[in-house]
Amino acid sequence: MNPHDTDSDKQALITTGSIVTKPIVLVGMMGAGKTSIGSRLAMALDIPFWDADDEIEKAAQLSIPEIFEQHGETYFRDGERRVIARLINNGPCIIATGGGAFMAEETRKTISQEGLSIWLRAPLDELVRRVKRKPNKRPLLKGGKVKEKISKLLNERAPFYELADHIIDSENSDHEAIVDSIIVFLKNQQAGI
Ligand code: S3P
Repeated sequence: MNPHDTDSDKQALITTGSIVTKPIVLVGMMGAGKTSIGSRLAMALDIPFWDADDEIEKAAQLSIPEIFEQHGETYFRDGERRVIARLINNGPCIIATGGGAFMAEETRKTISQEGLSIWLRAPLDELVRRVKRKPNKRPLLKGGKVKEKISKLLNERAPFYELADHIIDSENSDHEAIVDSIIVFLKNQQAGI
């Protein structure tokens, strides 16, 4: 798809419902754009969008920083595992996961059995630039040295993210272009290309 295509061209590429037969699960680091790209993708495909972090917050009636502060990371990860297992059983949809979700073996197994995983891969500097926009949102980055923390997490996590079914580079900050490339991937996949 090129930048001059109109919305109706884009729509023509999508035979509603037919290119998505199971949940598409976006994985990747904080700042990779999972929520923003995921919600746009869901809108383009006319299917529901779920943000796992939002669902954990709703279930706990607490914000993520509050969950970490009051109950700790293990409690959060347990909630994350349960929420993803629930969301993935609702038919075709887009699910944006928190950056650590795909590290859990059980969650990876659920996602690979029930869904199609896509790693939104972005380079370190881009991730750092994006997470700095909302400094208090992510408890794992508390206490400064954001670049070092992100770098360490990225090194630990990249081998797991690589296990995703597909990788899309999200360096380009034009989210619409990234959505378009995911749609092209889904179309090609459906066509067996
Ligand atoms: C986390 C990422 C966050 C959130 C929590 C832990 C992580 O989600 O789940 O703060 O371990 O990387 P985003 O990736 O949406 O920021």
